[in-house]
This record gives sequence, C-alpha cells and structure tokens, in this order.
Amino acid sequence: MGEMAQKIVKLDLEQLQKVLNEAFAEEWLAYYQYWIAAKVAMGLQRSDIVREFNQHAQEELQHADWVAERIIQLGGTPLLNPDEWSRVAICKYITPHKFDVLSLLHDNLLAERCAIERYKKLCDLTDDTDYETFRMSRDILQEEIEHEQELEDFLDDLEAAKEFMIDYCSCETKGE
Ligand SMILES: [Fe+2]
Ligand SMILES: [Fe+2]
Repeated sequence: MGEMAQKIVKLDLEQLQKVLNEAFAEEWLAYYQYWIAAKVAMGLQRSDIVREFNQHAQEELQHADWVAERIIQLGGTPLLNPDEWSRVAICKYITPHKFDVLSLLHDNLLAERCAIERYKKLCDLTDDTDYETFRMSRDILQEEIEHEQELEDFLDDLEAAKEFMIDYCSCETKGE
C-alpha cells in the first residue's frame, strides 16, 4: 500500500506515524472539547458562541479525518481505542469546570494554542522531508490560527461589553 508514496518520505516512518497519532488523538479531544462546550454553555452571546463551537467541532473532526488518512497512506494505523487518546495526546483535554461562556472560551483557547504549536512542529519536521504531510499540516495550521483568532475576538467583545456595563452602571448610580 502506497509503496512509492512511502518511499519518497525522507523520515523514519514509524516515528512519523507516532507523531501523527498524537495529533489524531488531540483532534478527537479537541472535537469533544468544543462539542461538550456547545451543549453546556451559558451566558452572554450564548447562541453565537455555541454556533462557533459547533463549527469548530466539525473542523476538528475533519482534521482527525485528514490525519487518519495520512497515517494510513504512510503504512500505519490510526489509534483503534479511544482509551488511548488521553494517554498519547500532548495537548490535553480540559474538563470544563465552569459553564459560563468566558471559561469555556478560555479552555478552548488553550487547546487551540497547543494545536498551533503541534502543527508548527509538524510543519518544521516535514518541510522538505514529506511534502504531503507538510501540505496537510500547513492547511490544518491555517485553520487552527483562524480558530484562535475567532475565540480571541469573542473574548474581546465580552470584555468590551463588561466595560460598557461597568461604565453604564456607575453613571446611573451617579445620576449622570
Ligand atoms: Fe484541529
Ligand atoms: Fe482548532
């Protein structure tokens, strides 16, 4: 399977499959991190944020699909047991402790920043040594960067709304 596709890779295939399986596990955890956040979220801008969480969840699932296909092309097998996901992932699942949108946005922001590091490292590893994994990693990196920006934008908006409310309430109290 993929004899020539594997021959042109200038890396240790087993080591590369191992790293890709870490990324594969992280994508499933990221998917679930967003999926569950969308279910439990409450607070300001809830419906917009839930829509964003659900969209990101679908994109993380798409990443898991791309990474799994690449692992198979390289002669490996994607992790077969979900019990292994938390064990091998470097970017860990963050159990939501509070359900307000601010906390959930922060949890997912940490996950996105870890994913950006993951794909930056994969790009560094495969640039000039494995063109196809490099292309895939660069495509995923671009989407993770967009995810980070979108979460930061929501956090900025919530912060601005909070400042406005504080100003508004203090004006009301002073009778301005
Ligand atoms: Fe992802
Ligand atoms: Fe992401």
